[in-house]
Amino acid sequence: MQKYYAECTSCKKQAEAPPDITTCISCGSILDIKYDYEAIKKSISKEILSTRADRTMWRYREFLPIMDTTDVTGGLRVGDSPLYKAERLGEAAGLSNLYIKDDGLNPTSSLKDRASAMAVVKAREAGASVIACASTGNAASSLAGSAAKAGFKTYIFVPGRAPRGKVTQLLIFGANVISVDGSYEETFKLSAKAIERWGWYTRNAAINPFLAEGKKTVSFEIAEQLNWEIPDYVAVSVGDGCTVAGVWKGFQDLYAAGLTAKLPRLISVQAEGCCPINSAVRANSDKLVPMAENTLADSIAVGVPRNFSKAVRAIRESNGVTVNVSDKEILDAMVLLGKTAGVFAEPAGAAGTAGIIKARGQGLIPRDASVVSIVTGNGLKDVASGEKAAGAPISTPPDMDALIAEFEKAGVAPQ
Ligand SMILES: Cc1ncc(COP(=O)(O)O)c(C=O)c1O
Ligand SMILES: [Zn+2]
Repeated sequence: MQKYYAECTSCKKQAEAPPDITTCISCGSILDIKYDYEAIKKSISKEILSTRADRTMWRYREFLPIMDTTDVTGGLRVGDSPLYKAERLGEAAGLSNLYIKDDGLNPTSSLKDRASAMAVVKAREAGASVIACASTGNAASSLAGSAAKAGFKTYIFVPGRAPRGKVTQLLIFGANVISVDGSYEETFKLSAKAIERWGWYTRNAAINPFLAEGKKTVSFEIAEQLNWEIPDYVAVSVGDGCTVAGVWKGFQDLYAAGLTAKLPRLISVQAEGCCPINSAVRANSDKLVPMAENTLADSIAVGVPRNFSKAVRAIRESNGVTVNVSDKEILDAMVLLGKTAGVFAEPAGAAGTAGIIKARGQGLIPRDASVVSIVTGNGLKDVASGEKAAGAPISTPPDMDALIAEFEKAGVAPQ
């Protein structure tokens, strides 16, 4: 008997979860992976976890949907990203307990490494040799990296707008890269047709129910790093909705297994120019109204979110806060994160922080609340946006007088 099974998010039908399972065979909806939490309670404790030498995401094996016989060693080192207390950023935001979980420090520089490491392990269990996905960029580069290490061939579809840094990662990792001249929605649809035609293992967001199980390990780490004191709020940027759903699943699992006695409130951050999930939550509606993909935060420019219902459910269940931020607010948060915390985030990676600052400004979060901002992707992936946020350096010929003149021009008074 497997220790995990699949449950349909819509018709609630339960079924075994073979490694190549996708959507519900009865109604076609997205699946959840569920566990026997009583069995987990008997096999894991905080004390056992504290003695484990493995710091990667696989240290939470009891909570992960992998076969007992599966060897998870030998992949890229995913997980164990730092959680910083961000005093100076907190001061700027008016918060006394603000933390940054820098998931941009994963091997291919985004939180998506957690899902891709899982996808590669499940593809191996399924006996597949080729993995494919459509992605705004980070799921793509993380899949290409983990697949390269494990020896899989990959076909990866990205919208033409994907930043060069992410596309270059794909090429370096040896993926077959298909840059689609169209939106993310069109890219996704083309990938789905190709996956069906050639029978590849799918790492597509939401379609593969195991991915959220990888992502949820970020919440396990936050809990452990805070000495099991669950924060009041956790902020994350939202595109397809898989990440926010995964983050919520992680906290729910810990609660269900009796390791924690509290759940955080989620802060769901979307871009003003593309916020279909937050709009539905605010309207108390279960209907997805597609939007244009109008933001420089390319990773969360998702007009038709693939994991809409799971994301909406997660935000609601957590009594969450929805915040929409402008591109200017995202760029400002990138600069603030950099100069007060030493963390370089890509726009979608800084959006969570932008949302926290905005929510605090609107009085939606109390000053003394404990708040974690998950930085989901590293800024070096999208240097053009970094330049837009931070501006140009002082440029001078190699001459002292010229330097002084340039300092004066720039209003810099060196001491
Ligand atoms: C850096 C970054 N942040 C946030 C997200 C949003 O995740 P999701 O699409 O699962 O909602 C993504 C997704 O690509 C991402 O790459
Ligand atoms: Zn169903």
